[in-house]
Amino acid sequence: MRIIVTGGAGFIGSNFVQYIYKERPDWQITILDVLTYAGNKSNLPGLDESRVKLIVGNICDEELVDSLVKDHDAVVHFAAESHNDNSLDNPRPFLDTNIVGTYTILEAVRKHKKRLHHISTDEVYGDLELDDPAKFTESTPYNPSSPYSSTKAGSDLLVRAWVRSFDVRATLSNCSNNYGPYQHVEKMIPRQITNIISGEKLKLYGSGENVRDWIHTEDHSSAVLAILEHGKIGETYMIGANGEKNNLEVFNLILKFMGKDTGWLEHVNDRPGHDMRYAIDASKIQKELGWTPKYTDFEAGLKDTIQWYTENEDWWRPQKEATEAKYKELGR
Ligand code: NAD
Ligand code: DAU
Repeated sequence: MRIIVTGGAGFIGSNFVQYIYKERPDWQITILDVLTYAGNKSNLPGLDESRVKLIVGNICDEELVDSLVKDHDAVVHFAAESHNDNSLDNPRPFLDTNIVGTYTILEAVRKHKKRLHHISTDEVYGDLELDDPAKFTESTPYNPSSPYSSTKAGSDLLVRAWVRSFDVRATLSNCSNNYGPYQHVEKMIPRQITNIISGEKLKLYGSGENVRDWIHTEDHSSAVLAILEHGKIGETYMIGANGEKNNLEVFNLILKFMGKDTGWLEHVNDRPGHDMRYAIDASKIQKELGWTPKYTDFEAGLKDTIQWYTENEDWWRPQKEATEAKYKELGR
């Protein structure tokens, strides 16, 4: 199997590369990543160059994408602009990468008749009320809120259209909030951990009632591999691990595990259009593909993540200043 992983130097893509490197020792892996502020070669330590090749390039580059896809069997498409706050500040790169980039990949897999798995997010479904008994399923109508989630929704719809109109062999997955090592410090959990290490207070948006459904990155990776190998063409699979927690609960756990009292936080400007709650019903992938998450103890996973950021300041420190400067401009 020769596989292209787009966005393989980002948080989740690099975890997937490490996962298949270990689980599928006979696969050849080509990473296509333009190395934006979120892409980092040091997310990929310890890989043998005879099995893993990094091509630094843009998924919107038709010629490059075409030439790579021609010589591979499958594409797993993680590359995206992924942060909501950035999309509210400057939506343009989200349109380019998430929409035009996905279109470019679709045209190449169509031409060369290759397999595609498209990575998406639960945010395409909008949000749920706190007391809504329903969770997102594969048939929940699309209702995205932000420039980020609307461009992800657009990319999903392109993939579905290319399956139906051109018989492209694609599957899709929509996953909930990931956590774990190597996540950029702009995201909620690493931002708070690295704030404490830097002597800064935690920064809470709004009341902290917003709920996210947390899953460890490696569980996302194992689910994607299951879909790539056994998923039914044209189908969408929800990925989640029953990890619903409101933000204040997560903040309080971080404070407790890092030895701070509950007052060590600051209320900052809320995110415009802030989604209230995400929750995933993952019964389809569990029943049809036999997938189950391994990291079901969120508190243990969070402690390991805190330990990783504590021990890897060399990795995150270079991102921290620029990230916080951007947040300062936004009052967040
Ligand atoms: P990330 O921002 O950490 O990484 C994105 C990667 O894509 C980076 O390495 C970046 O350099 C690369 N990239 C961006 N634009 C590119 C372009 N034009 N050409 C080539 N490479 C480009 O993102 P992440 O959190 O790892 O998310 C990966 C995927 O998973 C995204 O599609 C995202 O929508 C989806 N997702 C993320 C989460 C989450 O909680 N982080 C949850 C569900 C789904
Ligand atoms: O649900 C999947 C999505 O999860 C992915 O598609 C996105 O790529 C990923 O970034 C994530 O989106 P969120 O917007 O939910 O994640 P973020 O880490 O930015 O924020 C999580 C919650 O924490 C959200 O309610 C906003 C809040 N927050 C965030 C930051 C950065 C804070 O309260 N303080 C903060 O400093």
